[in-house]
Amino acid sequence: MKVTVVGAGAVGASCAEYIAIKNFASEVVILDIKEGYAEGKAMDLMQCASLNGFDTKITGSTSDYSKTANSDICVITSGIPRKPGMTREELIGINAGIVKTVSSSLVAHSPNTIIIVVSNPMDTMTYLVHKTIDLPKNRIIGMGGALDSARFKYRLAEALEAPISDVDGMVIGGHSDKGMVPLTSHATRNSIKVSEFLSEERLNQVAADTKVGGATLTKLLGTSAWYAPGAAVSGLVQAIACDQKKIFPCSTLLDGEYGLSDLCIGVPVILGRNGIEQIVDVPLSNAEKAHMTESAEGVKKTNGLLEL
Ligand SMILES: NC(=O)c1ccc[n+]([C@@H]2O[C@H](COP(=O)([O-])OP(=O)(O)OC[C@H]3O[C@@H](n4cnc5c(N)ncnc54)[C@H](O)[C@@H]3O)[C@@H](O)[C@H]2O)c1
Repeated sequence: MKVTVVGAGAVGASCAEYIAIKNFASEVVILDIKEGYAEGKAMDLMQCASLNGFDTKITGSTSDYSKTANSDICVITSGIPRKPGMTREELIGINAGIVKTVSSSLVAHSPNTIIIVVSNPMDTMTYLVHKTIDLPKNRIIGMGGALDSARFKYRLAEALEAPISDVDGMVIGGHSDKGMVPLTSHATRNSIKVSEFLSEERLNQVAADTKVGGATLTKLLGTSAWYAPGAAVSGLVQAIACDQKKIFPCSTLLDGEYGLSDLCIGVPVILGRNGIEQIVDVPLSNAEKAHMTESAEGVKKTNGLLEL
């Protein structure tokens, strides 16, 4: 199993590290445009191998895509992150050009790969990859919902004063502060609906804190977060590599599902060796349906800024 990660920055390096530590891939190639940067990150990570007990071989490359040839999975994290006060949508001008070039170069060397898009604005970048390269829709996946759901579970556990392992919940919709749809009606604490434990007001606060989860960290860190994003990507990569058939909310091209078409947005999917193997239809409350429609309008507005 060969995995390429484009972008050796904060998220790319964290993602490569988690993949290596989980020890399921034979090879990880990190590629960056900055001279020597990916090689340096790869060497540093390889010097963790004996300490952390993994056998994954990690190598780096400065813009040499021949090193990525025949990758089973390619992750795109290249591009600029947001600074405090910025929205993800404001990154489109620079990141669209980067994602277009990178996705074309990746498929030229790995025509049967599965691509995971991380660069923001992620739903629009996933849509752009569909418009740029010729891969079936199950092989182009946007990562956002897995991270947003992890942040939702963190906030739920905090409100419930319960361990995170006791909590389950999912966030669908667009990967933006306004677009996220935390499914509070489905969230559970060990199979009991969280509404049995938390007031409507407290649940609304959990949802609101989840939606600004990225902005809260960007304000604290001065740039966007990387540990949880890296871990979330590694979870998707592992589900595909190990054919786990796990459900994650992922951004995928919709064709009528959830009443939506011609956009990529987060919905629950089953991930296995073929990438997105099934889109799962979850019954939504009226409020969640309205929120999803509004979220889709936001994603389509950002897609409208693309020069296709
Ligand atoms: N989808 C999500 O949930 C999620 C979460 C966190 C961050 N992000 C996004 O991921 C992206 C990366 O964030 P980061 O914090 O790692 O940024 P970063 O600045 O630390 O790293 C980005 C890297 O991309 C490289 N790069 C730029 N252009 C390139 C090109 N053409 N080819 C190869 N490499 C190139 C840069 O040299 C840099 O090393 C941002 O767009 C950020 O908004 C998404």
